[in-house]
Amino acid sequence: MSETRVTPETLNLEVRIGGLRLQNPIMPASGAFGQEMDEVVDFNRIAAIVPKSITKEPRKGNLTPRVCEVPGGMINSIGIQSKGLEYYLAKTIPSFKGYDVPLISSISADSVEEFAEMAETIGALPEVAALELNISCPNLKGNGLAFGMDPEVTRRLMVRVKEVTDKPIIAKLSPNVTSIQEIAIAAEEGGADALNVANTILAMAIDIHSRRPKIGNVMGGLSGPSVKPIIVRMIYQVRQVSKLPIIGCGGVMNGEDAIEMMLAGATAVQVGTASFINPTALTDILEEIKGYMVQYQIRDVNELIGGVRIS
Ligand SMILES: Cc1cc2nc3c(=O)[nH]c(=O)nc-3n(C[C@H](O)[C@H](O)[C@H](O)COP(=O)(O)O)c2cc1C
Repeated sequence: MSETRVTPETLNLEVRIGGLRLQNPIMPASGAFGQEMDEVVDFNRIAAIVPKSITKEPRKGNLTPRVCEVPGGMINSIGIQSKGLEYYLAKTIPSFKGYDVPLISSISADSVEEFAEMAETIGALPEVAALELNISCPNLKGNGLAFGMDPEVTRRLMVRVKEVTDKPIIAKLSPNVTSIQEIAIAAEEGGADALNVANTILAMAIDIHSRRPKIGNVMGGLSGPSVKPIIVRMIYQVRQVSKLPIIGCGGVMNGEDAIEMMLAGATAVQVGTASFINPTALTDILEEIKGYMVQYQIRDVNELIGGVRIS
């Protein structure tokens, strides 16, 4: 009957992530988003604002060159260049005031206590809706091992952060592990409200003429289309062992990629590298999802989550 036909106007795109109500599933990935993008993207149309990870003290970042292109993506080793917490509180957060979508603050730190200290300060701000913990950076007190590579450290970190804030906590997992399931379980046990699967994949590229690494820091993180099949697999695996909502992140370039991640089990999707290539990627992806839903007469985007047909 014509009244029941799904049209762009009758779609439900709202999803929930750890107590957050998002108007749709498409948000930027930390590090690939800045206030200046409001010239091309209507921030009020995306799911959330996710600024670059902040560290407590200002950091210069790594040696240059910090990015290089590779087939199917890019390697970056920015090294969490950061203006520090003071600047973040005084300038970054106020710069996002006036948009009608939740602000998710991404935090990087060198120790469990520093994570907790920052989470307490940032989590207390009414402007901040949720915290994303970038546990993929090296833990200086753990021999350079990323927090998110060790299940016990991941669990402890979540427990400690949950003690200092009531805001939803998203654990951004490292894909550079043997078992992403083990880390996902640990984050859930520690009290994480949602999981981001995942950060960049450790990679290296060499210029054969100079014989030098193409990245000043020798190795960096791979992102873009080349990582997507790995991330889709990880989302699917995490979905098998955890009830937490998953934010899929890695290689989403268009609506089809976002839908694929949702079918694997993601509730929402972050977009990074695509925005460097196409500044309006976030809203373009949203429109493509709507087109797919109308094509297949799917009224509610939540029906896609975990909808892959196995066997
Ligand atoms: C230039 C650049 C800077 C990034 N900075 C951060 C960061 O500060 N914090 C973080 O959690 N992830 C950071 N990332 C990782 C992205 O958030 C995302 O996890 C990764 O790029 C995979 O998604 P994509 O393939 O859509 O880019 C950065 C990625 C790039 C390319």
